[in-house]
Amino acid sequence: MKKVKVAVNGYGVIGKRVADAVRQQEDMELIGVADVVTDYRIKTAAVLGLDIFAALSNTAPVMRAAGIPIAGTLEDLLRDVDVVADCTPKNIGAANKPLYERAGVKVIYQGGESHALTGHSFVAQANYETAVGRTSTRVVSCNTTSIVRTLGALKKDGLLKRARGTLIRRASDPWEAHLDGIMNTVIPEKTIPSHQGPDARTVDPELDVVTIAVKAAHTSSHLHTWWVELTRSASKEEVLAAFRAAPRIAFIRMNDGVAALNSTIELMSDLGRRRGDLWEVALWEDVLTVKGNEAYYTYQVFNQAIVVPETIDAMRALTGVEQQGQRSIQKTDQALGMMKEFLKSKEPLLTA
Ligand SMILES: NC(=O)c1ccc[n+]([C@@H]2O[C@H](COP(=O)([O-])OP(=O)(O)OC[C@H]3O[C@@H](n4cnc5c(N)ncnc54)[C@H](O)[C@@H]3O)[C@@H](O)[C@H]2O)c1
Repeated sequence: MKKVKVAVNGYGVIGKRVADAVRQQEDMELIGVADVVTDYRIKTAAVLGLDIFAALSNTAPVMRAAGIPIAGTLEDLLRDVDVVADCTPKNIGAANKPLYERAGVKVIYQGGESHALTGHSFVAQANYETAVGRTSTRVVSCNTTSIVRTLGALKKDGLLKRARGTLIRRASDPWEAHLDGIMNTVIPEKTIPSHQGPDARTVDPELDVVTIAVKAAHTSSHLHTWWVELTRSASKEEVLAAFRAAPRIAFIRMNDGVAALNSTIELMSDLGRRRGDLWEVALWEDVLTVKGNEAYYTYQVFNQAIVVPETIDAMRALTGVEQQGQRSIQKTDQALGMMKEFLKSKEPLLTA
């Protein structure tokens, strides 16, 4: 089997997880990672045995001087790959676009970039097929991914009329908690709707969704609370069944002592997941309430990992090695060990 050759540019929170996930896929090969830093973050990649490339030509000597074994420049790396996952900070991806075009590689950008950069925004379960063979796509942000997954699940079962959600966002990622972040306050976003609702419509223009966001003083992922008007009166079981049938939504329960964002992170580590990653939307099954044609629910978005499986699927879509979204989702989820239930079974239960 010819493997898809992959580069990851930007070995940060998202990039290092994408690199790991690529190495877990049977049909992919990680050729190398590129970055500009010289500290422990990229030195870890060397310890893990990855080939490291200097993303900017003027950083190569600095990285070499810092003892990082540089295999070449990003341009060298791009010559050897079919697809690059650009996981650099916001706006740097856009600046890299001409370089990728010159190299003739397929590109996956992340949610910090605009929809206009590629004209296509990606969530595997919603629009995989429209990305097949394209030159580039943008995997939407963590929050937007969760919105499309959950509302998409209700829509698929004919239950979704409109949805209104509040997003309680983390202040910063854990690795940069000493540099950035807020303390002892909550900051409402300046505009309503916050950008995530409109962003979800770049994937599915039919969604009637409004989001309000606030930033809180913690680092451990995001929490969403939702009010959804259904197309008809439904039972709690029907709403749960819609979520259960969709990929990448998993159930947690207050009754199991999973009481807050930190509980799930502990649980993922205890289950042996690398970095304690949670790729699924973790939805509190016993909090979900349905009254007539209204559903209310709460879920966790582990922002550091949720977009990783989508990025893997986007690689198969752009390179055309897999034409069907459902089959790619299955491959990705099997390789990562994705689950529907964390505490009910020893075996991963896949529905895709
Ligand atoms: N952190 C999250 O929760 C999260 C979730 C979903 C999507 N995203 C998106 O993913 C992208 C990456 O975010 P992140 O959180 O991983 O950022 P990060 O800061 O953790 O990592 C970015 C990496 O890119 C490197 N870098 C900086 N300039 C570079 C350049 N010119 N060339 C190559 N590498 C360069 C940095 O050194 C760093 O290692 C952004 O678009 C972001 O919006 C982030």
